Amino acid sequence: MKLLALELLLLSSACLLCPANSTASVLDRQADALLQWKSGLDGHGSCLNSWTKGTNTCNWTGIVCSTSDDAPGILSISLNSCGISGNLDGFWFAEFPHLQGLDLGNNSISGPIPSSIGRLVDLFDLDLSSNRFSGSIPTP
Ligand SMILES: *[C@@H]1O[C@H](CO)[C@@H](O)[C@H](O)[C@H]1NC(C)=O
Ligand SMILES: *[C@@H]1O[C@H](CO)[C@@H](O)[C@H](O)[C@H]1NC(C)=O
Repeated sequence: MKLLALELLLLSSACLLCPANSTASVLDRQADALLQWKSGLDGHGSCLNSWTKGTNTCNWTGIVCSTSDDAPGILSISLNSCGISGNLDGFWFAEFPHLQGLDLGNNSISGPIPSSIGRLVDLFDLDLSSNRFSGSIPTP
């Protein structure tokens, strides 16, 4: 019994070292989310060409990363006039809790604006103008 308890203790303390919330894993998940959205688009201009797996996400066109450990990950996404056509169904807003800026203006994005955009509690700069959205603006 004592041995089992010790093993459990070791197992749980080992998880203190789990990188679950490290900047790297936050960025990895955000990169996956963005690539997932990109892969579902009907089309896009050259802005998104730099968005490829295995490259530095913070160096992708339109992406600004945080330098603070308190709010790790992507700070803003600026894709104005990028010739994007498709929708936001596959955009996992929940992966971007610290996003402050989102500019998708002047593209050809259609469909509804997902209510999950309300998960962006730090957002203060949002531009969805000049697109083809339908439906109503979600209420928080
Ligand atoms: C970022 O991208 C530029 C080209 O746009 C490249 O020269 C540079 O090496 C890249 N930096 C990193 C860290 O990937
Ligand atoms: C909108 O985007 C297109 C490219 O998709 C560009 O040619 C045009 O100049 C942009 N318009 C504005 C007002 O930025």
